Amino acid sequence: MERLLGRVLVIVPTYNERENLPMIAGRLRAAVPEAHLLVADDNSPDGTGAVADELAAADDHIHVLHRPGKQGLGTAYIAGFRWGLAEGFDVLVEMDADGSHRPEELPALLEALGAGADLVIGSRWVPGGKLVNWPVQREFLSRGANTYARIILGVPVRDTTAGFRAYRASTLEKIGLDDVQSEGYCFQVDLTLRTARQGLRVAEVPITFVERTAGASKMNRAIVAEALWRVTVWGVTGLPRRLRTRLRTRR
Ligand code: GDD
Ligand code: MN
Repeated sequence: MERLLGRVLVIVPTYNERENLPMIAGRLRAAVPEAHLLVADDNSPDGTGAVADELAAADDHIHVLHRPGKQGLGTAYIAGFRWGLAEGFDVLVEMDADGSHRPEELPALLEALGAGADLVIGSRWVPGGKLVNWPVQREFLSRGANTYARIILGVPVRDTTAGFRAYRASTLEKIGLDDVQSEGYCFQVDLTLRTARQGLRVAEVPITFVERTAGASKMNRAIVAEALWRVTVWGVTGLPRRLRTRLRTRR
């Protein structure tokens, strides 16, 4: 795997994940020992940053990025990507800290990347994808958001909001990170759309998404509102271009 793909960095954004971080770090290090871990912590009031520092002090494959305060999932990943690209990593992985994304399934994502994809999404909504203990209202929201995004954006991806993914460094370099404005969870849709619009290959592999057993979700109304308006704007502004390509392929 390492020979094919090069060096792998797994970025885990954290905000109040003190109870979860040692668990997820241990599982990742066991499941994919050659991968490095970067914790991107937003000065969590519960002291997650200090826990991350302890883990990093004991393991040369663990690194920590401290940010001054809660600035959103999207900006945490951008900061993590920049760090990883500057350090020369070839593959950049996104993964939640709370156990919803199983590190044991990362090899399957990396395999699909090795098979030629430019972005691999660990997907809940392809055949074989499963949910464990996810509240039914979250399932509704996710299914609705994905259907809306797929139709209005015209991107043939079943799980555009998914947060378990593997990018080739070259993909992030091609799509460009400088003008990404998404702050919250719509960052996921944003980067999926950018990747697809570049004509790059997006693959989805089924995962089992497991609801957290410790701590709380950071999802809130503001995150949903940002996603709704941004996706709508991207859909409307992208329409002329979609119509043009459709006319061209009809002829
Ligand atoms: N640094 C930082 N800053 N980390 C954050 C922030 C932030 O502002 N907000 C959330 N996180 C971290 C959490 O600590 C966790 O590790 C991860 O991001 C995901 O946050 P959750 O709050 O657990 O998200 P969720 O379970 O409600 O949402 C999941 O589903 C969404 C919709 O499909 C995630 O997989 C999302 O990525 C996904 O978009
Ligand atoms: Mn979660």
